[in-house]
Amino acid sequence: MSLTDAARAVRENAHAPYSNFKVGAAIRSVSGAVYVGCNVENVAYPEGTCAEAGAIAAMVAAGETQIAEVTVIADSPKPVSPCGGCRQKLSEFSGGDVVVTLTNLDGVVQMMRVADLLPGAFDADYMERS
Ligand code: THU
Repeated sequence: MSLTDAARAVRENAHAPYSNFKVGAAIRSVSGAVYVGCNVENVAYPEGTCAEAGAIAAMVAAGETQIAEVTVIADSPKPVSPCGGCRQKLSEFSGGDVVVTLTNLDGVVQMMRVADLLPGAFDADYMERS
C-alpha cells in the first residue's frame, strides 16, 4: 500500500467532532515499515492530538526512531500543511532531506523537505553548553 493510500485510509478513523477536519498521516521508517495516525480531538480542546503525532507515537512504540518519508492528507482546498508543532515533532525523527508529501482528497500534491518545513529548527546542538 502506498503512503498516500495508508494516510487516506487512516484519516477515516479520525476523531474530529469539533473541527470536522479529519487528517491522516503515514510514515515509512528506514526499516520500510509503515506507521499511521489520525487526529484525535477532545472536548477539552487543547488535549487533542494531530495525525502526525499519532503516527510518530506508533513508530516509536514499535521501537523505531528514523523516518524515511511521510505523507499527510486532509480534505483541504490545497495540500494540507503540517502545523508548527508537528513540524518540530517530525524534525526530531527526520534528517533535513526527508520528504514530506502534503496532499488533499483531490490528489493535489506538494512535496517538501523537512528542512524547508522548519528552517532553523531547534535541535540538540543548541544544548551543547548545558
Ligand atoms: N491537524 C492535524 O492533525 N495535523 C496538522 O498538521 C494540522 C492540524 C488537526 C488538528 C485538529 O484536530 C484539526 O486538524 C483542526 O486543526
